[in-house]
Amino acid sequence: MTAPTLRSYLMQNAYDPDLVFLLEDIATASRAIASLVRTGAFEGNLGSAGQTNVQGETQKTLDIMANDVFERECANSPRLAALVSEEVEEVTWLKEPKIGDYLLYFDPLDGSSNLDVNLSVGSIFSVMQVQADGDRNVLHAGRNQICAGYAVYGPSTMLVITQGDEVAGFSCQPDTGEFCLTHPKMTVPAETSEYAINTSRARYWHDPVKRYVDECVAGKEGPRGRSFNMRWTASMVADIHRILIRGGVFLYPADSNNQKAGGKLRLMYEANPMAMIIESAGGGASTGFGPILEVDPEAPHQRVPVILGSRDEVALLAQYHSDASAT
Ligand code: AHG
Ligand code: MN
Ligand code: MN
Repeated sequence: MTAPTLRSYLMQNAYDPDLVFLLEDIATASRAIASLVRTGAFEGNLGSAGQTNVQGETQKTLDIMANDVFERECANSPRLAALVSEEVEEVTWLKEPKIGDYLLYFDPLDGSSNLDVNLSVGSIFSVMQVQADGDRNVLHAGRNQICAGYAVYGPSTMLVITQGDEVAGFSCQPDTGEFCLTHPKMTVPAETSEYAINTSRARYWHDPVKRYVDECVAGKEGPRGRSFNMRWTASMVADIHRILIRGGVFLYPADSNNQKAGGKLRLMYEANPMAMIIESAGGGASTGFGPILEVDPEAPHQRVPVILGSRDEVALLAQYHSDASAT
């Protein structure tokens, strides 16, 4: 039997028809961005654009091109009211907002420091809804997401989506460009022996994170009684995709160096959508102090501490955080 196409999956799984339009536009954007990434070296597009975004980070040429692709492909969706992009400071309003219209939050190119070394990058997106006619508030907690997903541009291009019930992964057939369901009902195993954290920041870590990582490093001679493995790609999409396939835990925690900024990763278009995907796949998603999906946002580009992955490991990390605050 041939794998269902993205369209047939969305229809069979009761996605709202307007959301189907939007997801097909996002799939088109993903295909176009995958092609830009693949041909970047020929076009001289892998380097810096020589400007910074609202976060003060240097933008790559492809960060800006990927943002333009998202804007171009998605702007015609009939119910899309606004865009919130990592690369654009202000919210882009496309129409007078009506109750139920869609709000699209996206990181057009995630892990862009990996571009010049030819490693996996991706795009991340989240969809929420306008709460009342004329309401221009885009700051809703992640529990209000109606859909979230990411595209990964690796050896194959994949699109992973959820509307909160199950997580489905689609691979892009290189010859036809069609996304077909190759990874139905993706789940994160509850237990794992693999963790992902940027250990060059160890000197900044707070005690609960230090404790967790020390115990993993101690391996089977330590309190965990088993050996752990570590992987860090500096591309959240690639790390989360690995965790969805074979388990693990991903941390970009608050530390003494990023605490003032609130963390490193952005709530609305990195942490929230990945938290929805991981929770829908049976995993856990915490800031260390509470569920990511319950954080009340104060700004579109707000940062947040992130702990995502296998449920038992995320629960243990949350426990270590509450142990530390009780002492
Ligand atoms: P972006 O490329 O969209 O700015 O995101 C980069 C993020 C994320 O993908 C990754 O997990 C993390 O930054 C890497 O941080 P380090 O540079 O500290 O490794
Ligand atoms: Mn990112
Ligand atoms: Mn980005």
